[in-house]
Amino acid sequence: MKYYLTTPIYYTNGAPHIGHAYATMACDTVRRFKRLQGYEVVLTTGTDEHGVNVERSAKAAGKNPKEFVDTIVKEWRRHWDELKIQGDEFIRTSSPAHHRTVQWLFERCRNSGYVYKGTYTGQYCIYDNLYVNDAKPGDNCPECGRPTETVTEENYYFKLSVFQQKLLDLYAREPKFIQPESRRNEVLRFVQSGLNDLSITRTSVQWGIPVPGEAPHVFYVWFDALIAYLTGAGGPEYEERGLWPADLHMIGKEIVRFHAVFWPAFLMAADLPLPKRIFAHGWLLVEQDKMSKSRGNVVRPLPIAQVMGADALRYFLLREVVFGQDGSFSYDALVQRYNSDLANGLGNLASRTLSMIHQYRAGLIPASQGDQQIARNCNAATEAALDAYEEFEFNRALEAIWSLISDIDKFIVERAPWKLARQNDVESQKLLDNTLYTAAETLRIVCGLLSPVLPEAAAKIRLQLGFTTPIESVRTSELDWGHLPEGQKLGKVDAVFPRADAKLSIEKMQQLEEQELARQNALLGKAQPAALHSKAQPAAEPAPAATGDGKITIDDFAKVDLRVGLVKSAEPVKGADKLLHMSIDIGEPEPRSIVAGIALAYKPEQLIGRKVVIVANLQPRKLRGLISNGMIVAASLGDGQPVLAGFLEDVPIGARLK
Ligand code: MSP
Repeated sequence: MKYYLTTPIYYTNGAPHIGHAYATMACDTVRRFKRLQGYEVVLTTGTDEHGVNVERSAKAAGKNPKEFVDTIVKEWRRHWDELKIQGDEFIRTSSPAHHRTVQWLFERCRNSGYVYKGTYTGQYCIYDNLYVNDAKPGDNCPECGRPTETVTEENYYFKLSVFQQKLLDLYAREPKFIQPESRRNEVLRFVQSGLNDLSITRTSVQWGIPVPGEAPHVFYVWFDALIAYLTGAGGPEYEERGLWPADLHMIGKEIVRFHAVFWPAFLMAADLPLPKRIFAHGWLLVEQDKMSKSRGNVVRPLPIAQVMGADALRYFLLREVVFGQDGSFSYDALVQRYNSDLANGLGNLASRTLSMIHQYRAGLIPASQGDQQIARNCNAATEAALDAYEEFEFNRALEAIWSLISDIDKFIVERAPWKLARQNDVESQKLLDNTLYTAAETLRIVCGLLSPVLPEAAAKIRLQLGFTTPIESVRTSELDWGHLPEGQKLGKVDAVFPRADAKLSIEKMQQLEEQELARQNALLGKAQPAALHSKAQPAAEPAPAATGDGKITIDDFAKVDLRVGLVKSAEPVKGADKLLHMSIDIGEPEPRSIVAGIALAYKPEQLIGRKVVIVANLQPRKLRGLISNGMIVAASLGDGQPVLAGFLEDVPIGARLK
């Protein structure tokens, strides 16, 4: 029995953050669970490498797109290795195998009459890679709120509009095709409101898969990325591997439409089988906020894995967040859960059980049937956990397992094996055998049940229980009571989850996070010093606090570093009619690169040589791939028109405004 599941393929204009890790760890958990059930599982992941966004990031890093993505892809792969993701295939959209699959699928759609040529003029969001059909020039993208760009292109179109009824029939026939229910309803509403044909090629981008015989057309990134799922199943020869159709596409909630509408339509047009299930999870926030580079609140997964372990991170995320809904990460909550559930709960049960068997029974599993009440609890918890895993309700699975851990803890305390050990009568010794067997057998079952979420810890505990076969060989059929062999010799006992000092652990993670950020910035060719984005910064320099009447103190005002600057050069930003890119001397060794939305009010030649006021200590940010390291001060008139602040007298460059 085969089970084919996929993660989305990740954009390569940046390195992974904890949200990506969450998404991928969840898929790996499903992979491990399905193997536990006895499936021959294939999990694919990979990278979505084409498009204008990557083209621009590569340019900013001073590399050509291929060189750039090669570096970034190494980063993604390294993350998945360190986070113990058992991916079976890593699909790169820049690979020849994938190019071939996309071109093949296009030909199939064209041959069946679902592709035609047309012209499009309108707004486009480069961040979401979407045409924004109802937008006017200057409008922002309704998905991400960032400015759209006007484009005119001759494109190939996919006749999405003719699939409306077929898609609605599909959703009615397969009620579990899109889950959870809320996402299904969202898709239903979208499709019911009518579908526009979809442009599936671009001529404005070079970095993409060429449309055969149609240079300079390249495929639209979504008529490229989605097809990676088929590339992973063997491409045009997919029938040979027996993996297609996929059993599950696990995705984030914001890309449901692409997966539940576009993707089945492409496949129907090409007369190929449809995936069985699409499950959309929610977003991982950081202390309730969306992660973003400009907010400087991005959390990276490796520092956490290095300090607390990859298992602990996965456990925290799957235990804390209701899968399907949004959830929140914080270092504090992570360390708290680690100590209460892993160190005190599971870790303590393991070390206590195993050391007692070493101490009282020379490290050999005693002969016993175990306690029948605990046996029943175990079987019930196993059933509940497996049911929950099946529905991707990870938090519920973990709750069921932890309620078993707490049952067995109570049982051990009540039996007080340390007292029984001191009594030499046959009855007490039998009861001690029964107690130790019960604890060890529960631990064995718990290990099996937890192996999808705590792969490393489960493997370690299994070894300590004396098993020589790997945790990956365990199947659900062995999870009922009574499989622990009498006389089995335990391995060496070693703490799996030593208690963590909260303060030290958090400091260490934050320190590593800063180093990781600096390393990734260097990789992406980013100019800004790492410290400016550091998480520690807000703590060291809190935002100006308003006093009770909404006023700030003079000290708060003094934190804003306002300087006189001289505009050395100014030029329009391609594709953004409001922006100017300037180089401004504020008396530092190098002039600052600053991007400002003043192009409608000032022509570049009006600005060169002019003295302006700059906020010099703002966090740098990137606009259209250009670093903006500072802000130019202007009055904003009623219609939003900016008027630059300036001086009547002559003032020296770099002078501070107080
Ligand atoms: N390249 C497309 C997917 C193409 S699949 C054929 C893409 N890439 S992405 O890198 O932007 O996002 C990949 C996945 O990561 C998405 O499913 C997205 O939901 C997920 N996440 C990105 N940030 C996330 C969080 N903060 N939390 C949870 N998942 C999030 O979209």
